[in-house]
Amino acid sequence: MKTISVCFVCLGNICRSPTAEAVMRQQVSDAKLAERILIDSAGTGDWHIGEAPDERAQRAAAQRGYDLSGLRGRQISRADFERFDLLIAMDDANIANLRRICPPSQRDKIRLLMEFVPQTDGRWPGEREVTDPYFGGAAGFEQVLDQCEAACRGLIAALHPRVLP
Ligand code: 4NP
Repeated sequence: MKTISVCFVCLGNICRSPTAEAVMRQQVSDAKLAERILIDSAGTGDWHIGEAPDERAQRAAAQRGYDLSGLRGRQISRADFERFDLLIAMDDANIANLRRICPPSQRDKIRLLMEFVPQTDGRWPGEREVTDPYFGGAAGFEQVLDQCEAACRGLIAALHPRVLP
């Protein structure tokens, strides 16, 4: 069976990337691809290692039926470039941090999540980044969820041909 592994990456691994992980898990499960698409998340920083996701992210996600409570923060490492087929960053700063530790042969694995928003979705034209909600209000966490839901749909569509026989 063909499988593909993806790791979502943000700065702290307590807001955006755990949200992307939970949204992706739900959509992958709905698409009956849970055994073929393997999912994880990590942060480029080390401040929140071992912590549960931010309460505000947990609350906003729970209102849409996603349970973030079991996730724990971890920091990305060089070994993750061998373990994962794709490292999907939330913003350009994450990309720069990933490139700094990435073995040269693995650079093509680094992508931006917003690249996968379907072209037909007109909500964030030209937007490259999932905006960091950490220092903002509740609306930021709703936008993170909206962006993750749209982008994960496009990501699954892009991965489909790579995992089906
Ligand atoms: P995340 O959000 O990268 O989406 O998890 C942040 C979490 C923590 C910090 C910044 C952003 N921080 O400065 O501690």
